[in-house]
Amino acid sequence: MADKKNILITGGAGFIGSHVVRLFVRKYPQYRVLNLDSLTYAGNLENLHDVEHEPNYKFIKGNILDLELLNSIFSEYPVQGVIHLAAESHVDRSIHNPDEFAMTNIIGTIRLLKAAHSAWHGKMNGKMFYHISTDEVYGSINDGYFTEETPIDPRSPYSASKASSDHFVQAFGNSYGLPTLISRCSNNYGPYQFPEKLIPLMINNMVHSKPLPVYGKGENVRDWLFVEDHASAIDAIFHKGKAGEVFNIGGNNEWKNIDLIKLLCTIVDQKLGREEGTAMKLITYVTDRPGHDLRYAIDASKVISETGWRPETDFAQGLEKTVSWYLSNQDWLSHVTSGEYLKYYDKMYVNR
Ligand code: NAD
Ligand code: DAU
Repeated sequence: MADKKNILITGGAGFIGSHVVRLFVRKYPQYRVLNLDSLTYAGNLENLHDVEHEPNYKFIKGNILDLELLNSIFSEYPVQGVIHLAAESHVDRSIHNPDEFAMTNIIGTIRLLKAAHSAWHGKMNGKMFYHISTDEVYGSINDGYFTEETPIDPRSPYSASKASSDHFVQAFGNSYGLPTLISRCSNNYGPYQFPEKLIPLMINNMVHSKPLPVYGKGENVRDWLFVEDHASAIDAIFHKGKAGEVFNIGGNNEWKNIDLIKLLCTIVDQKLGREEGTAMKLITYVTDRPGHDLRYAIDASKVISETGWRPETDFAQGLEKTVSWYLSNQDWLSHVTSGEYLKYYDKMYVNR
C-alpha cells in the first residue's frame, strides 16, 4: 500500500468521526484511512464494525497528547492529510471539569499541529491540516445568523477550549505556513451519538420510561444537521477548500428544544405502539444549564457556493431514521451506557 495517500483522522471512534471514517474508507479506496483514537467513554469501536476489515482502514489506539506517538505516525506512513475531530465534546461535562477540556482540546490540538509541522516542514505542498470546530465558538445569537466573519465569543468551557484550538490552528498557518482549514458546524444528530446528548438521551429515556430532563424552559434554539450531511460537508471542504479558509456548516433547521422533544415523543410513541401522550408525560423541567446559550444559527452560504455541498436529509426523514436506529440497536446503547457513564449521569441528574 506504499502508493496510497495516508489520511489521519483523529477521534474516528466517536460519533461524527465514525461517520467520516466510514465515508472516506468506502469512497476513497486510494486512501489509507488511519483512525487515531484514545477510546474515552465517548469512543467505541463498535461504531465502525462495518468497515473495520477493509484493507484501506487502520485503527491506532493512542492519545493526541502523546507527541512521540504522533511523530512516529507521521514518519511511519507518512501522513499527507489530517482531519482532526478528537475532542471532549459535551458542554455539561466541561462545566464540571474544564481542565480535561483544556488538555485534550487545546494542548492535544497543539501537539497534533506540532507533529504535522515538523513532518511537513519545507514540503507543505499537497498537505492539509483540517480542524473540525463548532458554531459554539461564536457564542449565542438572538437574531440573524453566524457568518465566518462573526467575532469569536465562546461562553462555556467547552466552547472556550474549541475557540482556543481554532486560534492555534490559524496561528500555525500564519506563523509556520501550515496549510489549514477550519469548519464550524451546528448540532449533529443521527446513529452512534453518545446518549448524553439531547436527542439520543431523550429517546433512551422514553424507551425506559425515565424522566425527560428539559433544561430551563426548553426555549433554547439549536440548528440540527444529520450527521451524514456533516460528513459529506467535511469531504467537500477537505477536497475543495483553500488553505487558510474557515467554513460554517449548518442545516438551516432551527428548533426550540421543547418543540423538538415533543416531536420525538410522538415519533417514539408511534414506533413503540404506545398510547399517544405516553412519552409526553415524562417531560420534566429541571434547573437550567449554567450560562446556557440561547440560540445558535448558522449561515452556511459560503460552503454551499464554494464547494457545491448541501444537506440532503430532511429533518423528518433524519429523525425517523435516528429513532429507528436507536430502537433497533439496544445492545449498542446498553454497552455505552454501562459503568462509568451511568454513575456520571446519575450524579449530574441528581444534582439538578
Ligand atoms: P464524541 O465525543 O462523540 O467523540 C470524540 C472522540 O474523540 C471519541 O472517540 C474519543 O475517544 C476521542 N478522543 C477524546 N479525547 C481524545 C484524545 N485525547 N486522544 C485521542 N482521541 C480522543 O464527539 P463528536 O460529537 O463526534 O464531535 C467530534 C468533533 O466535532 C469534536 O471536535 C466536536 O467539537 C466537533 N463538533 C461536534 C458537533 C456535534 O453536534 N456533536 C457539532 C460541531 C462540531
Ligand atoms: O452546536 C454544536 C455543538 O452541539 C457541538 O459543538 C457540541 O459538541 C454538541 O454537544 C452540541 O452542544 P449542545 O450543548 O447544543 O448539545 P446538547 O445535546 O448537550 O444540548 C442540546 C440542547 O438541549 C441544549 O440547549 C441543552 C438542552 N438539553 C440537553 C440535554 C443533554 C436539555 O434540555 N436536556 C438535556 O438533558
